[in-house]
Amino acid sequence: MSDTARVPDRNELDEVVRFFEAKAREYLEEVDRRPVLEPHADQAARDFGGALPRDGVGALEALIELWGLGLPATATTSGPGFYHWVTGGSTPAAMGADWLTGLLDQQAYAWLGSPLAVQLEHVCLDWLKELFGLPAAWGGIITTGASMANFVGLAAARQWWGDRHGVDVSEAGLSGLPRMPVHASGYIHASAVKMLSMLGVGRSSIVRHTRDAVGRIDLASMERALRALDGEPAVLMAVAGEVNAGDFDPIGEMADLAAEYGAWLHVDGAFGLFAAASPRTSRLVDGVERADSVTVDGHKWLNVPYDCGFAFVRDPLLLAQAFAYTARYLSDPDDPRPVLGGLGPESSRRARSLAVWATLRAYGREGYRRLVEQHLDLAQLLARLVGASPDLELLADVPLNVVCFRFNPGLGDGPELDRLNAELAERIQRDGRFMVGGTEYGGRVALRPTIVNWRTRGADVERFVGVVRELGARLADGMAEG
Ligand SMILES: Cc1ncc(COP(=O)(O)O)c(C=O)c1O
Repeated sequence: MSDTARVPDRNELDEVVRFFEAKAREYLEEVDRRPVLEPHADQAARDFGGALPRDGVGALEALIELWGLGLPATATTSGPGFYHWVTGGSTPAAMGADWLTGLLDQQAYAWLGSPLAVQLEHVCLDWLKELFGLPAAWGGIITTGASMANFVGLAAARQWWGDRHGVDVSEAGLSGLPRMPVHASGYIHASAVKMLSMLGVGRSSIVRHTRDAVGRIDLASMERALRALDGEPAVLMAVAGEVNAGDFDPIGEMADLAAEYGAWLHVDGAFGLFAAASPRTSRLVDGVERADSVTVDGHKWLNVPYDCGFAFVRDPLLLAQAFAYTARYLSDPDDPRPVLGGLGPESSRRARSLAVWATLRAYGREGYRRLVEQHLDLAQLLARLVGASPDLELLADVPLNVVCFRFNPGLGDGPELDRLNAELAERIQRDGRFMVGGTEYGGRVALRPTIVNWRTRGADVERFVGVVRELGARLADGMAEG
């Protein structure tokens, strides 16, 4: 080791704080106007690399380099024009609390390590149960997102299913058991499929009951399958808020089926469960309180920073069984204080509860009702603008905050139009003023902007439509010229 080697030094901290404050101010002042992606973002990202430096540059220099070279390689996901996937922003309260989380560097493994983080996690889960109309007695855990919340919910389902076969799956594994039957509509999210693979249940255990090309549920087919199981336990998966058009599986009717046939009902409401926050949409999630496990995301409609999600489970004991682990050094088995590491997949855990608590404390139930309604209104505005544009075509109803449409300059309904829209999605992404994803909806290539950021306003949506039409017309002209 050289004598000049830089090591962490208390004297660096003051300049780090000053640097952060200056950059935070600059960024927050311009975030509404920043492009969603800079034209040279790819190159800027690739400029990072090379071998591990022998000697460091110290904290301030490292931060200057990170900011100076790195900012052009970021996507402005916290700005008002990012409509790809389901990408929430970060409320001022959540953002501030997230900064404090970094400052305090709390871990939420156990009470002993941070009474605050653990207590706030309990409070937040209780508040969210109230917001979503879930029974207060349910258990829950904060996760890294909806994928891991699906993992937790389905791990509880697997534990229950094993119990029904007389096997503690967490101890004995799945060997010797039949396959766990999983029944869903075509709306099942890709992450839930992945989680079934991680749980050893297998992706191909899923039977999809669909009645059309969009994937809407065929309830009669699902019921026939349950009846044919002849009392054997099964898992039903409902989606509240599917990603292409924001539609919902009929949760209440699926809860009826689960009750009648003794099945487990898991509801993936990553963003759609926020429909419960407004009387305008709450009927869409009627029956969710009769489910056995429920997934919700934090970094989507709650607008807390990445990463954050929530798993809720009717029977808290199942979480304790599925995720139990012990090592004497970790915690004293006689200590009654909570150990959250034993209720979910992670041991050491970021204290995500600080940001969740702060945003719920700052804006409350009414604030979230208004936020959801702001986005419902914006989605309706977008749908109206699409409907009023002769070269745009709405492909689905808009029950929530996703608007599924395509550019159609009069090309009929064939592969040429699909090619045009696939290219248009890519062109919009490269253009950088807005970000939107392409998808396939009922066999047609479409755009599916999803509005879920507190910063987005009507003027942004109007500008977005203008950009889609401008780039679409240019592409169509290029195609016509061959
Ligand atoms: C319905 C649904 N489930 C699960 C997920 C996965 O969420 P995450 O990216 O937070 O893991 C998403 C993401 O869009 C989703 O919409």
